[in-house]
Amino acid sequence: MAMLSLQAVVLSALLQNAWSINSRFPPNFKFGAGSSAYQIEGGWNADGKGLNIWDRFVQEIPSPIMNNDTGNVAADSYRLWREDVKAAAQMKLQFYRFSLSWTRILPSGFTNEINKAGVKYYSDLIDALLAEGIEPVVTIYHWDLPVKISDLGGWTNPLIVNWFGDYARVVYSLYADRVKTWLTINEPNVMCDLFYNTGAYAPGIKEQVYGPFLCNKYVLLAHAKAYRIFAEEFRPKYIGRFSLAYHALWIEPATRRDAALAELGRQHQLGRYSYPIFSKRGGWPPSIEKLMLKVSLAEGYSESRLPSFTEDEIEFIKGTADFYGMNHYTSYLIRPSTPEDEPGIWFLTGSPELRATLFYPPGSSYGAASIFPVYPVGIRRMMAWVKRQYGDIDILITENGFSTSGYQLADFGRVNYIREYLEQVQLSIEVDNVSVIGYAAWSLIDSFEWTDGYTTKFGLYEIDFNDPNRTRTPRLSANYYACVIAARSLDVKDSCWCED
Ligand code: NOJ
Repeated sequence: MAMLSLQAVVLSALLQNAWSINSRFPPNFKFGAGSSAYQIEGGWNADGKGLNIWDRFVQEIPSPIMNNDTGNVAADSYRLWREDVKAAAQMKLQFYRFSLSWTRILPSGFTNEINKAGVKYYSDLIDALLAEGIEPVVTIYHWDLPVKISDLGGWTNPLIVNWFGDYARVVYSLYADRVKTWLTINEPNVMCDLFYNTGAYAPGIKEQVYGPFLCNKYVLLAHAKAYRIFAEEFRPKYIGRFSLAYHALWIEPATRRDAALAELGRQHQLGRYSYPIFSKRGGWPPSIEKLMLKVSLAEGYSESRLPSFTEDEIEFIKGTADFYGMNHYTSYLIRPSTPEDEPGIWFLTGSPELRATLFYPPGSSYGAASIFPVYPVGIRRMMAWVKRQYGDIDILITENGFSTSGYQLADFGRVNYIREYLEQVQLSIEVDNVSVIGYAAWSLIDSFEWTDGYTTKFGLYEIDFNDPNRTRTPRLSANYYACVIAARSLDVKDSCWCED
C-alpha cells in the first residue's frame, strides 16, 4: 500500500512536470497586462480633472514618497496612451486591464459635474484597444479616491456605498456598450487594512481600531451596489462580468502546529473580503466573526469592532461576482508571535491568540530581488484554496509580476518569474482542474509604484522617466511574453520577437 502510494506520488510528479513543459494553454485562457490610472496617467490637473487623495498625498511636506516622486506626470499616459496601445498590440495581448480615474470623470467625486475631456479620454482608449482586437478590462476604482469623499470619511462612511454606486452608474452609461469585463475595486483588503493600519499610503490615516473594519464592510456594500446597479439597469441591454481584484497573498504554516493559525490568517486577510460575496452562507467568515467579538469584548468594547451585517445586507452582498479576480505576487509563512515581534499589519493586535507573525519562505528570492519574494507554487496553492472555499468558479489572474530597479532591458529575473508562475498556473488548470480563465502580467509599462515612487519597476516596457517623451522600450520580458502568447505555451525561447 505504502509502496503503491509512493509510486503514485512519483508518477504524478512526473506527469506534472510533463504538463508544465509541453501543454498549451486552453482556448478560453486569455493573456493580458495591467496598469492603473494614478500610476501611469499623469495629467493630474489636466482638462478639468478633480483632485484625488494621491494628488494631494504626494504634495505633503516632507514627502511620504521615495525621492519626493509624484504621479503628476508619471508615464504621461494621459498624453501618450496611443503608445500604450501600441505596446499592447505589439505583444498581441488579448486584453488590457486599466483603471478609470474617478475625478477625471467626476471632478468633485459626485455626479453634479461630468468632465467631457475625461470621458473622451477613456472612450478613445477603449476604441483604440478594440480596433486592435484587445479587450478592455476596466477597473472602476484603483485607490485614487476623490479628496472630497475622503475628507467626508472615505471608505469608513456608509454613504460611500451610494456615492460609489452613482459613479459606477455614470461609468456604465458611458462604456458598458464596449466594456464586458469589470473589476469594481482593486485590492479592497490592501486598501482597508494596509492603508488604515499604517497610514503609509493615501489618505495617510492611521486608525487601527475601527478604520480597517468599517472600510471592510462598506467596501463590500459599495461593490455590491455597483454590481446590482448594473444587473438592474444595464444587464437587460449589455453583457458584463464582474469581480473585484483581490490581493491574494498565500499564507502557509511555518510548522505543522501552525496549520489552524494559517487558515485563520487566510480568513483574516482574504476571507473577510471574499467570503461575504462568494460563500453560500454569506456574511463574515465564522471563525473571524467569533474571534473579533471575543477580542473586542475582552478589550472593553461593548460590541465587536467588526461591524455586523443585517440579514438584508448579507443577501445584498452575497453572489455579487461572476468570477474571482486575483492579484497574486508572493507567499508568507505564519507562526505565533513572540512578545518581541512587531505586530504584523494583517494581524489584530491586543489578543495573544490573534497575534501572528508573517515572514517570507526561506530561499524565496532570486536574481535582482523583487520587492515580493518569488514562490511560484504559492499561486497554485492559492487558487486551489479559492476553489476549496468557494467552489468551481472562474479565476482571472488580474495581476502577477516581478519588480526590478534601475534601467535594465535584459530583465532575466522577470522572464524567469513569469515562466515559473505560469508553469504553476498550467498545473492548476491541468492537474487541479481549476478554471483559470486568464492572466494579466503586472505591468504593461513602468509606473509610479506608490510610496516607492519610480525606484521600483514592474513594466514589461521600460519607460525613460528622464525623457520628456517618456519613451517606451520593450524589455526582454516583453519579447518573452509575446512568444508565450503567440505559442499559447511555455515551450518557447526567451525571445522570439524578431522571428515573428
Ligand atoms: C498591487 C497593486 O494593485 C498595484 O497598484 C501595484 O503596483 C502592484 N501591486 C505592485 O506592488
